Amino acid sequence: MNKYTRKHLEQVEGYTPGEQPTESGFIKLNTNENPYPPSPRVLHALQSLNTTDLRKYPDPLSTALRRACARRYNVPGEDWIVVGNGMDEILAMALRAFVDPGDKVVTVYPTYTLYEVLCRLHDCTLHYVALDANFQMPPDLYAEQGRLCFLTRPNAPTGVAYPREEVRRFCATFKGIVLIDEAYVDFGDDTCMDFPEQFDNVIVTRTFSKSYGLAGLRIGTAAARPELIREFVKIKDSYNLNTFSQAAGLAAIEDEDYMRQRAGQVRATRARLRDTLLDMGFDVPESSSNFLLAQWAGNPDAETIFRSLRDRSILVRYFKQPRLENALRISIGTDEECEALVASLKNILAV
Ligand SMILES: Cc1ncc(COP(=O)(O)O)c(C=O)c1O
Repeated sequence: MNKYTRKHLEQVEGYTPGEQPTESGFIKLNTNENPYPPSPRVLHALQSLNTTDLRKYPDPLSTALRRACARRYNVPGEDWIVVGNGMDEILAMALRAFVDPGDKVVTVYPTYTLYEVLCRLHDCTLHYVALDANFQMPPDLYAEQGRLCFLTRPNAPTGVAYPREEVRRFCATFKGIVLIDEAYVDFGDDTCMDFPEQFDNVIVTRTFSKSYGLAGLRIGTAAARPELIREFVKIKDSYNLNTFSQAAGLAAIEDEDYMRQRAGQVRATRARLRDTLLDMGFDVPESSSNFLLAQWAGNPDAETIFRSLRDRSILVRYFKQPRLENALRISIGTDEECEALVASLKNILAV
């Protein structure tokens, strides 16, 4: 650490994203991207941009996109929505807007590992409450208080969606902000998007990186009451969503049928892959997301399987941390990609 760096950053390690290989030829099942392209309307919208659109600054408030999101999320108006450069930016902004350095933030364990990194960067304390043996919300979570709680539903990397009524009960008892991260919601059965109208402390966040197949364009959203949204707007970069992303996001969200159809394909492949993995001896919780957590108690161990798959040009995610060290997180690919994965796994495990 050099002498110019802020003191609290000495202990902080940055987030390690899943591998994005620069060479081609990999089957990428490691970062929960969509295996299918975005709606054809997206490319059309991008191709329709002209040099004037590029010369000028983007709309600082992404008005058209926010309006379309409000319609699709069924919230009262665009003043209930803010957009960000990916949901990750929204998560960082939530800490900056609602949590003072030194304050307590709550989440469950295991969950999205970025929360911990963001809390360290912001110099606040993250308190974990362990999920139960089935990766469901534990009773002691209801006794917790803090300035903010990150609750991912469906959760990552487990894929489990807690019952909606449990989340509602938690929102009613928690006195700080409850941020419900719905990155994977379009691959599940229900949403908590109606909660901001019921609770003044709830923010529901979404991303275009998964179900809309637009991870490369970095578009995330938050829905909450206008008095909370105004705090995001106060602190955000003036032009946090570029012209390309605004145009692409708008085209994508207006083609709801396309997104639903692709999400349906992912769900069908997910069901088949889960059955196959169960037959092979993996323990796999039911997933409402575009990935499966495949737990493996046998030999070779999960880390070895992860490396052997990589040697065969198949990337999955391995987390060397408690409760996950015997598991692989496998993003749902196309049927062909999943068949190649299964063939390699059978080979590695000799089953
Ligand atoms: C739970 C969860 N939240 C947020 C994100 C980030 O979304 P974005 O790509 O919009 O930054 C991810 C991405 O993997 C995620 O798994």
